[in-house]
Amino acid sequence: MSDYPPAAQADTPAEDGGASFARDVLAGLAGTPRSIAPKYFYDAAGSALFDRICELPEYYPTRTELGILAANAREIAAQIGPRADLIEFGAGSLTKVRRLLDAFAPAALPRRFLPIDISGTHLREAAQRLRADYPALAVHPVVADYMAPFALPPAPGAPARPVGFFPGSTIGNFSPDEAMRFLRLAARLLAGGGLLVGVDLVKAPATLHAAYNDSQGVTAAFNLNLLTRINRELDGDFDLDGFAHYALYEPVRRRIEMHLVSRRAQTVTVGGRPHRFEEGETIHTENSHKFTVGGFRALAAAAGFRPGKVWTDERRLFSVHWLEAG
Ligand code: AVI
Repeated sequence: MSDYPPAAQADTPAEDGGASFARDVLAGLAGTPRSIAPKYFYDAAGSALFDRICELPEYYPTRTELGILAANAREIAAQIGPRADLIEFGAGSLTKVRRLLDAFAPAALPRRFLPIDISGTHLREAAQRLRADYPALAVHPVVADYMAPFALPPAPGAPARPVGFFPGSTIGNFSPDEAMRFLRLAARLLAGGGLLVGVDLVKAPATLHAAYNDSQGVTAAFNLNLLTRINRELDGDFDLDGFAHYALYEPVRRRIEMHLVSRRAQTVTVGGRPHRFEEGETIHTENSHKFTVGGFRALAAAAGFRPGKVWTDERRLFSVHWLEAG
């Protein structure tokens, strides 16, 4: 049910033969502190585990955002406007956009739907399923990294209003600098239209802790799967029993941090290179920033958007923002 993997998150080594995965992992393991970017979670097994996370009772973001989109779909469709060029960043399986599409009268459906994802295979398959369910919609998948400037495929006739859709609070997985870079790029690309973006909110640390430390251990398996992927694709010899999933809420930076903690002193070899871990040493694998509504609006304004309507659920767990791109 998720809209994942987020773009800029290569789910197979196919896009560049695995060279960037190898380069980034080796650099990340050599760094202090050690870290590996969360985009590498999403191989086939990782994507399937993420889909399971989205269904967990403790993981509130997916179902809460879907609820917000469903409850406000008409109002959101009115903001998007008729016959827009709707561009989804990090499109994954294209589940959430259906909630929006269903709210449009047939004549007002977006002129084009342009899902952007770095993973071509996944994207083309999802686009094919969407075409089958919405035959009146022109679906044009764009295989690109949306963190770098890219051009939309040209369309005949007058240009349509460009509207971006970035659900799931994927923006929270960016560093503050990356979030600003993404928003600036989006504001330029979407000039004359707007951006609809899902943003997870600051809340009781216990709720956040439970969401990233689920009782069934699915998030732990998702985190540890990164080591399985390294073993398989980069000739690694990580012993999965030698590392533990650790997720905590860091209230100063307002973010969940996920780590893989070495349970003992050990040496791991990846691609022929040894890496020595002391007991308790970690590999930092993900940040998931949480925002206040006001804080996110200020960030969007600093990036060049004019913040508009915000929709939240009753418990104010999650928010969906409409941002005008002037
Ligand atoms: C994809 N992203 C928004 C998820 C999050 O909540 O930060 C990834 C995730 N990591 C652990 N659970 C879910």
